[in-house]
Amino acid sequence: MIHKLYYPDLGLVNTTEMFQQAMDEGFAVPAYNFNNMEQLQAIIAGCVDTKSPVILQVSGSARQYAHPALLPHLAVGAVAMAEALGHPIPIALHLDHGSSFELCRDCIESGFSSVMIDGSHLPFKENTDLTRRVVDIAHDFDVTVEGELGVLAGIEDEVAAEQSHYTRPEEVEEFVGQTGVDSLAISIGTSHGAYKFKVKPGEEPPPLRFDILEAVARRVPGFPIVLHGASSVMPEYVSQINQYGGRMDDAVGIPESQLRQAAQSAVCKINIDSDGRLAMTAAIRKVLAQNPGEFDPRKYLGPARDALVEMVKYKNEKVLGSANRS
Ligand code: G3H
Ligand code: 13P
Ligand code: ZN
Repeated sequence: MIHKLYYPDLGLVNTTEMFQQAMDEGFAVPAYNFNNMEQLQAIIAGCVDTKSPVILQVSGSARQYAHPALLPHLAVGAVAMAEALGHPIPIALHLDHGSSFELCRDCIESGFSSVMIDGSHLPFKENTDLTRRVVDIAHDFDVTVEGELGVLAGIEDEVAAEQSHYTRPEEVEEFVGQTGVDSLAISIGTSHGAYKFKVKPGEEPPPLRFDILEAVARRVPGFPIVLHGASSVMPEYVSQINQYGGRMDDAVGIPESQLRQAAQSAVCKINIDSDGRLAMTAAIRKVLAQNPGEFDPRKYLGPARDALVEMVKYKNEKVLGSANRS
């Protein structure tokens, strides 16, 4: 049994003030996924260094991987680490792609300050009803809730979608009004993972559907929008992986210019998982290729962590605009 924990007692915050500031000032709060200690350390170090608020994001499977009982204590450690580094920042602990009411409730009762209920694969009415149930219990504890309308192509954690369908702006007002969600993930052409588009060499990926984003923002002015699948699949990491024995030939992500444009719009939260995985994998491959006898995990996880710190700083400063906001 997991002891009940309440997020304010852990030093965490929900996303309300972060999103208000992001909307007012025209930037996006980074939501970095993590599964282990080194990723968490790097995210905190990079966000403290750049004075950025941060959403620590955990999928259902990542929570199982870390262990549900350990996870909130990692978040407590993250808060303590930020303080010890000399610049406390707002930190939220968020469930990414919650697949059921029960999972969201378990997270709310074990220290999460924010949850996503992903009913995007359901018919509108079922998505609305499920999301409403999660909002009801979450708001009793002042936990914020992210819903989703529209389907991203690819595999969402425990939620499979063969094909994307863009968010329909005409459904947004009703969904937000009926559910009471605090933010909404939409589908405008991004997808999860490192292979987002099939493009020929030298070709640009198709642009995101900013017209849909704008139509959504017109329907719900001032309401925080979330962009999933927002890794740019940074080419330097992909080529380092390929240079040191990996094979990720057709990896391609969202161009940074489009992410910058999104961050300045109603998009208040940008989700990044794949780029962090690539940064760490590139560093680990390099160390192990150059030092085949190395077997101390600190010798390859340490450089991987350093690479992720640099990536986080770069994203906050140059792409999301979240640096120097806290
Ligand atoms: O959107 C999904 C995230 O990238 C998490 O992926 O289920 O492999 O932890 P995961
Ligand atoms: P990427 O795979 O593009 O990093 O997207 C992550 C994400 O949306 C997590 O919910
Ligand atoms: Zn996602």
